Amino acid sequence: MKVLLFISIATVATVYGKVPDYFPKCKKNDPLIEQCLTDGIENMKPKLKTGIPELNIPALDPFVVPTLKLDRTASNLRLKAVIKNAKAYGGSNFRIEKVKVNLNNKYLAEIKLQIPKLIVTADYDVLGSRILTAEINGKGVMKGNITGVSVVAKGRAKPIVKDGVEYLQAEKIVTKIKIKNAQISLTDSERPAAALSAATFFNASPGVILDIINPLIEDTVAAVLKPFINKVLGTIPLNEIFIDVAPSS
Ligand SMILES: *[C@@H]1O[C@H](CO)[C@@H](O)[C@H](O)[C@H]1NC(C)=O
Repeated sequence: MKVLLFISIATVATVYGKVPDYFPKCKKNDPLIEQCLTDGIENMKPKLKTGIPELNIPALDPFVVPTLKLDRTASNLRLKAVIKNAKAYGGSNFRIEKVKVNLNNKYLAEIKLQIPKLIVTADYDVLGSRILTAEINGKGVMKGNITGVSVVAKGRAKPIVKDGVEYLQAEKIVTKIKIKNAQISLTDSERPAAALSAATFFNASPGVILDIINPLIEDTVAAVLKPFINKVLGTIPLNEIFIDVAPSS
């Protein structure tokens, strides 16, 4: 009997008590909900750094992206690349500048944050690519120091019902990204000279190259974020993200 009671409590706990104490508890009708969310996320930083497995939140620092396929043709740009084992260090030092939500019969959110420095490493394989006049081909390890990153992410979500419980799922995520400076190194054991000249070309005028590849960076970040956010949102019932308080009048 005791065992049964324990099991049923444990079951209820896994369904309703998923959200740990440190998770922001912001009320849907709080006029200061944006401040509540900002403070809540800021307070969770140490947890976000190492990840929160029970909420499907992976470690933010380093943030690991196992595989990325890039294929883009635009003015001054033809890029075909496979990026593997990408790791970004420093993301947990983000500072939130603004949070905006609109919960009037919809779920719109916008967050603006600054990341002072990101150190990235990745294995790259670039085929038949060109940026401005530089032909880029090769395979190796890329390292980069990226400073002054500003990110604005906007999302629209809709509620869905899973096993009788309401959750949010992001329908659309758009990001705007600005990078102040970046310096890279490329190590390609087969074509070291070509790798060195590509890195030198980039490092001589990172702003010019970043402007050209920025739409690709923005789309890629949004595409990486969406499934990641939906996995988290699919774990936390909607009424534990925005606490619904019945009006008292
Ligand atoms: C990144 O910064 C570190 C530490 O300041 C430095 O040792 C490294 O050479 C830099 N890497 C690049 C690609 O500039």
